[in-house]
Amino acid sequence: MRRSRIRATAALTAALLSFACVDETQRAESGAALFAEYCASCHGTEGGGDGPEAERLDLELTDLRTLAERNGGTFDEAAVLASIDGRREVAAHGPREMPVWGKVLAEEKRGEPMPVYQAMGEARALVDHLRSIQR
Ligand code: HEC
Repeated sequence: MRRSRIRATAALTAALLSFACVDETQRAESGAALFAEYCASCHGTEGGGDGPEAERLDLELTDLRTLAERNGGTFDEAAVLASIDGRREVAAHGPREMPVWGKVLAEEKRGEPMPVYQAMGEARALVDHLRSIQR
């Protein structure tokens, strides 16, 4: 019991350290590739909300380049991360039309070491990409 907790703590520490060592620009670059792969279908390649899938959604997509602007000029990293990994309900009304990316990304890494932590790293990279496209 205690040993598994120690092991989990060690794994978490290692994962956190590996995020800390990657510099932000590098992470934003891998975030851009992830965005093209997973997000652009709805949010559009530039994040403007005009992806090919956007039409079949019931609600109007917001412009992801104005996340900071719409939040009084501050890019709220924690809130953006939470809307990506699923801890924050994205649309105020109606069912959640955006997939819970925390789960999807972890599912993709099934069989690899620490899938949940890898998914966390990818979610962080996506946040850095979104920060880099704010205007
Ligand atoms: C199936 C379509 C779809 C895909 C794919 C998708 N989203 Fe979304 N996303 C939505 C919808 C619908 C909303 C809620 C409406 C809104 O807030 O624009 C949303 C909202 C968001 C928000 C909150 C926007 C705001 O203004 O608060 C963020 C951030 C976001 N998505 C990021 C992502 C990222 C990153 C990816 C890729 C990993 C992604 N989305 C993929 C449909 C999608």
